[in-house]
Amino acid sequence: MSKITITAALPYANGPVHIGHLAGVYIPADIHARVQRLRGEEVLFICGSDEHGVPITLRARKEGVTSQDVVDRYHKIIGDSFKDLGISFDIYSRTSNATHKELSQAFFKNLYDKGAFREIRSEQYFDEQAGQFLADRYIVGTCPSCKNEGAYGDQCEKCGSTLSPTELLNPKSALSGTVPVMKETINWYLPLDEIQESFLNDWIGGKGDWKSNVLGQCKSWLNEGLRPRAMTRDLEWGVPVPLEGADGKVLYVWFEAPIGYISATKELRPDDWEQWWTGDTRLVHFIGKDNIVFHCIIFPAMLHLRGDGYVLPEQVPANEFLNLEGQKISTSRNWAVWLNEYLEEMPNRKDELRYVLTSIAPETKDSEFTWKDYQTRVNSELVGIMGNFANRVLVLMHKYYGGVMPSVGVVQEKYRLFDRGDVVGGKHPMVDDYIKPVVNLLGNYQFRDAQFKMMELARLGNKYLAEHEPWKLVKTDADATAQVLSEAVQVLFNMAMLMEPFMPEASGRLLGQLKANPDAHARKDFWMAGEGSEGVWFELAVGHELGEGGLLFQKIEDDVIDAQIAKLQAAGAANAAVLAEAASKSNQSGGENDKNTVAAMEVAAEIKPEVTYDDFAKLDLRVANVVACEKVEKADKLLKLTLEVGEETRTVVSGIALHFSPEEVVGKQVLLLANLAPRKMRGIESQGMILMAEDADGKLVFMSPSNAVASGSGVS
Ligand code: 2FM
Ligand code: ZN
Repeated sequence: MSKITITAALPYANGPVHIGHLAGVYIPADIHARVQRLRGEEVLFICGSDEHGVPITLRARKEGVTSQDVVDRYHKIIGDSFKDLGISFDIYSRTSNATHKELSQAFFKNLYDKGAFREIRSEQYFDEQAGQFLADRYIVGTCPSCKNEGAYGDQCEKCGSTLSPTELLNPKSALSGTVPVMKETINWYLPLDEIQESFLNDWIGGKGDWKSNVLGQCKSWLNEGLRPRAMTRDLEWGVPVPLEGADGKVLYVWFEAPIGYISATKELRPDDWEQWWTGDTRLVHFIGKDNIVFHCIIFPAMLHLRGDGYVLPEQVPANEFLNLEGQKISTSRNWAVWLNEYLEEMPNRKDELRYVLTSIAPETKDSEFTWKDYQTRVNSELVGIMGNFANRVLVLMHKYYGGVMPSVGVVQEKYRLFDRGDVVGGKHPMVDDYIKPVVNLLGNYQFRDAQFKMMELARLGNKYLAEHEPWKLVKTDADATAQVLSEAVQVLFNMAMLMEPFMPEASGRLLGQLKANPDAHARKDFWMAGEGSEGVWFELAVGHELGEGGLLFQKIEDDVIDAQIAKLQAAGAANAAVLAEAASKSNQSGGENDKNTVAAMEVAAEIKPEVTYDDFAKLDLRVANVVACEKVEKADKLLKLTLEVGEETRTVVSGIALHFSPEEVVGKQVLLLANLAPRKMRGIESQGMILMAEDADGKLVFMSPSNAVASGSGVS
């Protein structure tokens, strides 16, 4: 039996975790860890706080406290709230501790001594006012790909492009708002270009069983061609670079944070930690989509270079993003449902949150949380279907049989729950039609479908009761009533078992109500159904005494939901006020150097500063017809469009290939920014830009006129 090391992305300790984190990473990871334990596997489930990196120092600066103050505060809040929700980490560690410092420095030194890095002298942005180099998020500017004015030095969160600071247009320091100068420095780079050729192309090429969203991103990176990436930074907050003469430099946070998984293992298992990272160990990383490159390309490259038997990830089941009430979740705009607040306000609704977030998990595309949908799922599904089924069965069992499983006389075919007989060659419909499919879906990391399948048992049970109405049957046929209610109890028992990884508390409550206590061996066979075991199902014997019933879930009233919606609206209104203030400040002062500047810049990126009518009039917007369209060779994201703009024909290259096939685009009327300076992309001159909107699911939408108009028509 191999060991399974399961990691969940280390959250930045610069704020509490929110429902987007939970739905994308921590709940699926927890379900997976619980299932593996139930199967009797040897599991370590690892997480901790990511305590370095620029977002933390920016937050500290904004609040006028130290970075250590910030991480101490949020490490506690995050760790406590995970525990409270029942996320079953074996350890929740942190990257500011001594074990991590020592281990990540040793890892760096090991690669350095092997000659794995390239030492590169380069000019980097430097803020003369703050006296500091501006790496990653210390620098903001306009994204060269999508023109988002709030792009960071390492990434544009709008279009997902990974950037380096020098690629940003109009760069500004996030510290002082001033325009930075260039200054020379030395850093150590991982030659990802070489590693791509020698290892990554083949290794990722062999990962045909990874999720398509994960493989899609990896392949797009590889197709673009990897470039060397600096693994050190000129910053103060972080793990110091363990080399002579490297004062004032720290390890790149994305170099050391994943090593945090290993240091946490060492902290938990000082004697055998290496066994969880080498040999016959299966490594699975649960992450969000913005972490794919780091876990599928950079960290595997590091582990590969490290050698010494380190294992590489077997699976990286990354999820897409969860939106909230029609908008992207945003920490800086306080547009989120924070886990710590949820737990304070609804301490008895933990499994409800787990259930709803699993039901809408963004497994294949971005998805949406709304409070109304939360209420419907809780009231109709958990209370109305699952809770109601359990309650009806237990109440009737107590009413008719004093809570003791009755003996059933002659089994009557017409009252059977399943069409097929009880046991045929070790097979049973409970196993084949419910338990095995749930186990299978879980094995494919399809948590959403697995939970839905589990709920089907409750639907089946309700339908069965509605069909045979034991409360009426009891007046005419005592045997049939005992048969129907006994079969319903068996459904409840197996459902309670299947609920365990999804809703551990409710599962425990229901097993308690049934006074059912399956032994570990039987549990293991149950969860191994179809994989090393023919499968088992559970039954309570005649004479078994059931416990007291009780409501499994409580209905949520409108006022609770209205209060949550009002709270979000208040956050939205507060945001609008900050935005207005930020915009007026930046107009008046041109970026003053106080601790509010950072906050203002963070939010001001959402709405661009005001422009005059004359500025607007400079834009030449036209309606154009797409007459031809083809893919651009060796560029996954680009389409080449041929446009008819009145009498003129134009070529435009647009980064929409992941959203549309060429066939879908031909024949569309689109909105063209016709006087944008021409730009070469992949050797093709792009003569303008197509304007698009993004809907709540993150899908791009063409800005076509509602009625067709002549191509070339101006828009004003
Ligand atoms: O995106 C994030 O929140 C990162 N802090 C995740 C780090 S995962 C790991 F590499 F540490
Ligand atoms: Zn962008």
